[in-house]
Amino acid sequence: MKTYKIALIKGDGIGPEIIDEAVKVLDAVASCCDIEFSYEEALMGGCAYDITGDPLPQETINISLNSDAVLFGAIGGAKWDNLPREKRPESGLLRFRKELGVYANLRPATVFDELINASSLKPEVVKGVDLMVVRELIGGIYFGEPKGRDENKGWNTMVYTREEIVRIAHQAFKIAMTRSKRVCSIDKANVLDVSQLWREVVTEVACEYPEVELSHMYVDNAAMQLIRDPRQFDVMLTGNIFGDILSDEASMLSGSIGLLPSASVGAKIGVYEPIHGSAPDIAGQGIANPIATILSASMMLRYALGEHVAADKIDAAVKRALKEGYRTKDLAQYDAKEVCSTSEMGSIIANYAAK
Ligand code: IPM
Ligand code: MG
Repeated sequence: MKTYKIALIKGDGIGPEIIDEAVKVLDAVASCCDIEFSYEEALMGGCAYDITGDPLPQETINISLNSDAVLFGAIGGAKWDNLPREKRPESGLLRFRKELGVYANLRPATVFDELINASSLKPEVVKGVDLMVVRELIGGIYFGEPKGRDENKGWNTMVYTREEIVRIAHQAFKIAMTRSKRVCSIDKANVLDVSQLWREVVTEVACEYPEVELSHMYVDNAAMQLIRDPRQFDVMLTGNIFGDILSDEASMLSGSIGLLPSASVGAKIGVYEPIHGSAPDIAGQGIANPIATILSASMMLRYALGEHVAADKIDAAVKRALKEGYRTKDLAQYDAKEVCSTSEMGSIIANYAAK
């Protein structure tokens, strides 16, 4: 039997609740796939700051680097919003991504037929949507220097090197080769110099993938097209901040941000996390949707561990739970046969996944 070491970073807000459900599902699937997980918990975010004074203790990096993959919940909350920038939970997360070197953030957005009425868009617009945002994660304006502020001025720098663009473009084209072979690269090349370089380099890399059809789109238009006709997209290749924004937008196609998983890859150890935040307003109430985290665990099985059978079982179990009409509160207003709590949803999916 194969044992995998998983670093669990539960974080703040709803983080602990949703990670617990993903672990339940992982353990259920392990029992029937002849694999086993050993978990080690590590602190990050506000909870880490409260205990250690640092939102990203070195021990968390060590535990993560010493694992096969990291399963991550969410961080942040109003309680820590007024700390100096480097002590804020978000800074811990950004530093974590950088330290691990996970430069490629894969954010699939699919619309489950079972939830076709949960989207705020018309069913005929969202039916069959299946796209993947490939977001550059450790560069761009999030990290560019110079940055800073004084009393009357604040500044950040959007910067990309050729090398950074080349490697994220390769990720996008490789993923496109496993899908519908279309990449739409998103930039603001009509205004930004950094985007001009981005567009040039992506076009060069595309020559190595003659089967993939490349198009370019300005980010404002892309935001509009995502709502107008989301099915036109297969892989959307973006820089850090555009990808942050567009992936939240894409989540609404599916009906709830509580459904979208992500994988941060490109280095030895990958990080698997829901795209949503820590939702402090609903923390502890047992109403959070655990599906994004459960699907992140499935991405972890697929991308980090190569356990495709187990991943397929989880994906099928999620579909089945939705098909049978189980809904957490975020989705329940539309067509719930049964409104369930976070842990009920986790147990139902775990139960199906074990079969
Ligand atoms: C995300 C989040 C993070 C980001 C925050 C919490 C720093 O919004 O993962 O999309 O902006 O990358
Ligand atoms: Mg975001």
